[in-house]
Amino acid sequence: MRRIAITGASGVIGTVLRRGLKDFRIAALDLPQVDVRDYKSLLVAFEGQSAVIHLAWDWKENFQSGSASPDNYVMTCNVYRAAREVGVPRIIVASSVHADSFHGWKKRSLLSPDNTPVPDSPYGASKVLMEALGRYYAKKGLEVVCIRFGGVNRKDSANMPERDYGRVWLSHRDCCSLVSACLGVPRIPNNFLIVYGVSDNKGRIHDFSNPIGWQPVDGSK
Ligand SMILES: NC(=O)c1ccc[n+]([C@@H]2O[C@H](COP(=O)([O-])OP(=O)(O)OC[C@H]3O[C@@H](n4cnc5c(N)ncnc54)[C@H](O)[C@@H]3O)[C@@H](O)[C@H]2O)c1
Repeated sequence: MRRIAITGASGVIGTVLRRGLKDFRIAALDLPQVDVRDYKSLLVAFEGQSAVIHLAWDWKENFQSGSASPDNYVMTCNVYRAAREVGVPRIIVASSVHADSFHGWKKRSLLSPDNTPVPDSPYGASKVLMEALGRYYAKKGLEVVCIRFGGVNRKDSANMPERDYGRVWLSHRDCCSLVSACLGVPRIPNNFLIVYGVSDNKGRIHDFSNPIGWQPVDGSK
């Protein structure tokens, strides 16, 4: 069984993945046992893993807070650097639809990850930075997938009060199949990929087409 490590494994998405990714032996890394700000502890935790999924995040920084948390930058840097140092071949990082502003998108075409992103908040800008660091490490040989997650919640509901939620919802089932596809594909083309993680929702804004064969099966009505 392949071994993978998940940072922030006790959170919303981490819990979904720990339940859904049945073909992997998962090292669940979260506070208080593992602090992702501590580089040395990551070197130990990442040893022998076939992939790392980086979800740990200080939620004081979110798309509504208007502020950034230095801890998030430290964690992002630590995870890439430690993965490279111990020879983990592939890393999946949690970016966000907030990396590229989507509220009020009026064009007929869908938002593509190929566009130059204009973040909608300091939080979104932190995600763009996370992706930029990924490009840097991809050049150094690490395979990097940045998933721009839409909305994942504990209830698996497409009906949440946030504006446009139903258009960016990602079901638990689609979340697990997307991460499975990212883990299972033999190679990440050019070592780097950004993919939108949204279900096939009514009024969808984002283009989820991708070179790894992932297709959502759920969608808001
Ligand atoms: N849930 C969503 O709808 C959504 C949407 C877009 C992007 N994302 C991104 O996905 C990631 C995970 O989101 P989530 O909803 O599961 O968040 P969450 O807050 O539920 O989980 C984050 C986890 O990170 C852990 N954590 C925080 N600081 C840590 C540290 N120093 N060391 C170790 N662990 C630490 C927390 O304890 C928590 O369990 C985040 O990067 C978030 O920005 C989530």
